[in-house]
Amino acid sequence: MPCNKKAAFTCAVVSAALVLILAPIRQIQGFPNGAPPTACATMTPGHGVGGQQSVSPFMTELLDGETVLMDGSVRLELRPQNGVNSFKGFLVMAFDKTDESKPIGTFKPPVDGKVIDCTGGVMNAVTHTNNLDKKSVTLDWTPPKNFMGQVVFRTTYVENKSTFWVKTESKAVAVVLEIPSATSTTTMAPQTTTTTTAAPVSTTPMSASTMSAPTQHHDHADHAGDHDHPTTTVSPPKSTASQSTSFWIGLIALSMLSSLLR
Ligand SMILES: *[C@@H]1O[C@H](CO)[C@@H](O)[C@H](O)[C@H]1NC(C)=O
Repeated sequence: MPCNKKAAFTCAVVSAALVLILAPIRQIQGFPNGAPPTACATMTPGHGVGGQQSVSPFMTELLDGETVLMDGSVRLELRPQNGVNSFKGFLVMAFDKTDESKPIGTFKPPVDGKVIDCTGGVMNAVTHTNNLDKKSVTLDWTPPKNFMGQVVFRTTYVENKSTFWVKTESKAVAVVLEIPSATSTTTMAPQTTTTTTAAPVSTTPMSASTMSAPTQHHDHADHAGDHDHPTTTVSPPKSTASQSTSFWIGLIALSMLSSLLR
């Protein structure tokens, strides 16, 4: 609406009010819709203050233990150490422990959060989609193809605008070709299996060629949390169709948001 002379004052007041109301929103709330790609490199929110130097009250827990199969995935939980604190925002990435220059692997689109593309990669980071107080965010991460080695997750937790912890590091998770287990006695696989508990092998009906199938490995050898995995990793083709759909939906949502904020 064009401002005529009479309404000019009202117009100016309204515009100024709008600017005053809208401009600081990003400053006050940080980024209510998640960290922008510019935050990828430092993993630091642009809040104008430094991160906390104290030990983070939040942790990034490895829910499936510290060893996963190369073709498996890692389930993470972002949560407070003590169950008291909550966080509004987060940004998490996975790094090769020996090369922390860039994030690796990909995340599945989570229930509470969104996958973003950082530093030239694709779907290699997750950030929040709202600034509500959170006590638990569960994420699934898949290693890069043919990756073997130690991976650490680094998470920036934002408790509020002035209080955040940058790059809180998880325990390392080892991505391996084969989980060491007692079944290796029957196969020809010369993998370096330093099995500590050689549980008596009763039945191993699977052939050596299917050794990488994670379905039937014995849980006698108590590696990494003795809860029996329901092995949902059986279906090999990841639903890339739905992933790319949500990618595009995310992209459209992002551009709508950024045009709104402009
Ligand atoms: C932010 O969180 C810290 C730590 O819990 C608290 O001391 C501080 O009062 C909070 N600040 C605001 C603005 O809520």
